Amino acid sequence: MKVGIIGCGAIANIITSNIVPKDDIDIKYFFDKNIERAENLASLAGGIAILNFEDMLNDVDLILECASPDSVKYYAPKILSKGIDMIIMSIGAFMDLDFYTEVFTLANENNARIHLPSGAVVGLDGIKAVSDFNLQDVSLVTRKSPKSLGMDIDKEKVLFEGKASDAVKVFPLNINVAATISMACNQDINVKIIVDPDVDRNVHEITARGDFGEFKTITMNHPCSANPKTSMLAAISAIKLLKSFNETITVGF
Ligand SMILES: NC(=O)c1ccc[n+]([C@@H]2O[C@H](COP(=O)([O-])OP(=O)(O)OC[C@H]3O[C@@H](n4cnc5c(N)ncnc54)[C@H](O)[C@@H]3O)[C@@H](O)[C@H]2O)c1
Repeated sequence: MKVGIIGCGAIANIITSNIVPKDDIDIKYFFDKNIERAENLASLAGGIAILNFEDMLNDVDLILECASPDSVKYYAPKILSKGIDMIIMSIGAFMDLDFYTEVFTLANENNARIHLPSGAVVGLDGIKAVSDFNLQDVSLVTRKSPKSLGMDIDKEKVLFEGKASDAVKVFPLNINVAATISMACNQDINVKIIVDPDVDRNVHEITARGDFGEFKTITMNHPCSANPKTSMLAAISAIKLLKSFNETITVGF
């Protein structure tokens, strides 16, 4: 499988440095609005840095976006209309319903698939499984360190309480998890975001209740050293997703 990357920051670096030849995944093209980042990563990975993202469109099976929600809105329609599959990390972009409808239609019409990794949270398998079985209440409580939000406070503070669709507007770069869970269960879930000086990790607590019973998951993420806003698990989940395309037996989903 030949892959191109848009966005050569923290996630792209972790993914690229953990793909080995036996995985049979050729990450060939590297694109970033900051060309130096694309060149650095391309030289580490033995790939090609490109100045225009169109230069990879005729030579890839899949494009992995790990740049920004705005980049998804700009590049995804152009990629999907060529029938090229995508992995998208900046999942918050999909909380814009018009955009969601546009890319869904484009992907369908052009036989392209869009893959959204589980990202920085565990429990999506369960949420997806029960989503059509009277799932009554799904909520997410996210705790972040002041450092990860670029804040300097010494007391816990609730920054946001409301629906995921609104959280994404206020914290577009920080709240992909809320968007991912909402999409997994097809509901605008309840979200609370807390800045907490007592945590040094990105902590996500999901609670789900329905006819099936109830579950709660807690994910205590180590941040990436290159970008404390991003959790290691987000990058790792994309690596596993990439590798799963070559697997004969897929466990969980
Ligand atoms: N799904 C999840 O659970 C999850 C978790 C963490 C981060 N994310 C998202 O993944 C994305 C990447 O995260 P990261 O930590 O690697 O970020 P990063 O800031 O370390 O790297 C992003 C890179 O993308 C480049 N970029 C930004 N906009 C661009 C554009 N329009 N065109 C080309 N290049 C562009 C930047 O120059 C930068 O090099 C972010 O949008 C982040 O919110 C998702």
